[in-house]
Amino acid sequence: MKLKKNFVAATMLAGATTVMSFMSAGAAQAQGALVMYCAVQEEWCRAMTSAFERETGIKVSMTRKSSGEIYAQVKAESANPRADIWWGGTGDPHMQAAEEGLTVDYTSPKNSELQPWALRQWEQAKKRTIGVYSGALGFGYNTELLKSKGIPEPKCWADILNVKLKDEVQMADPNSSGTAYTLLATIVQLMGEEKGFDYLKALHKNINQYTKSGAAPAKAMALGETTVGIAFMHDIVTMVVDKAPIKVVAPCEGTGYEIGSMSIIKGGKNQDNAKKFYDWALTPAAQKLGAEAKSYQVPSNKSTPVPPEAPKLEEIKLINFDFAKYGSSDERKRLLSKWDNEVKNLPK
Ligand code: G6P
Repeated sequence: MKLKKNFVAATMLAGATTVMSFMSAGAAQAQGALVMYCAVQEEWCRAMTSAFERETGIKVSMTRKSSGEIYAQVKAESANPRADIWWGGTGDPHMQAAEEGLTVDYTSPKNSELQPWALRQWEQAKKRTIGVYSGALGFGYNTELLKSKGIPEPKCWADILNVKLKDEVQMADPNSSGTAYTLLATIVQLMGEEKGFDYLKALHKNINQYTKSGAAPAKAMALGETTVGIAFMHDIVTMVVDKAPIKVVAPCEGTGYEIGSMSIIKGGKNQDNAKKFYDWALTPAAQKLGAEAKSYQVPSNKSTPVPPEAPKLEEIKLINFDFAKYGSSDERKRLLSKWDNEVKNLPK
């Protein structure tokens, strides 16, 4: 009898859930949809998706890929765009897409609340992309692996050329990854193009794998699969927060940084919803979802609390990164093909 009662209650509950989900599907339909390409960490992409759906009733279809891959996809789909909004990832492919007319200009009412670096990005891209967060590039090392190999603690870019680190350094491929393209552009700006490419060729001897995604080397370090990993410092901090035996390094020579960006895709089918997402993504309420998902970038809205875990940009020796030049279509194409020809396929 009791069993039967429980069964009836469960059936009623299931029915109610069905009605509720039917209603929310209806509400979502009434509000329409949004197709988002997302280039940050999966956890943060998912948190943004569900918070926006909850807030607006707009149904979001989200795909997570690396920055360069999203650019390639947006370009390939430009005759019949599938996505409406491209949120996150390094600024360079956003800048390139802006220049190539793949994205549209927009002025958000939230612009007045943003940091100057976020607006500079927007001005340089003729209003077609805007800064949503910032973070510095660096590297990290697995303290246990380093110790077991008797290698002194690396503090500078020069130190990770140590021959004892052969096959012990990991970075991403700059064609797919904005993180790795930031490294390429950083080294060229820091050392000059000739010396910079000499450096990248020497580094190639120590590389065990060029990964697709920029944060993968940080994860591999935490798993003990590589001794050194080049990545954004905040991605390495995430591993430290999760108690991995890792140290984060701001290289002594100085380093580059990213302005993670957002763009509205030209010809997307849900332009009004893309603008709604854009405005919302610039609010402190949306931006603080980053730290909650263990992503420790510096947010672009001045009122969003900076996560205490975020590497302090004012304490890091940052280069004067030329985002316009290294985000320009010609320069990005040129540097990537030079890297493919002169570095990637070099025998070791
Ligand atoms: C990670 C970082 C972001 C960065 C992104 C770039 O998610 O947390 O700050 O923008 O990587 O990804 P990619 O795979 O293109 O290097």
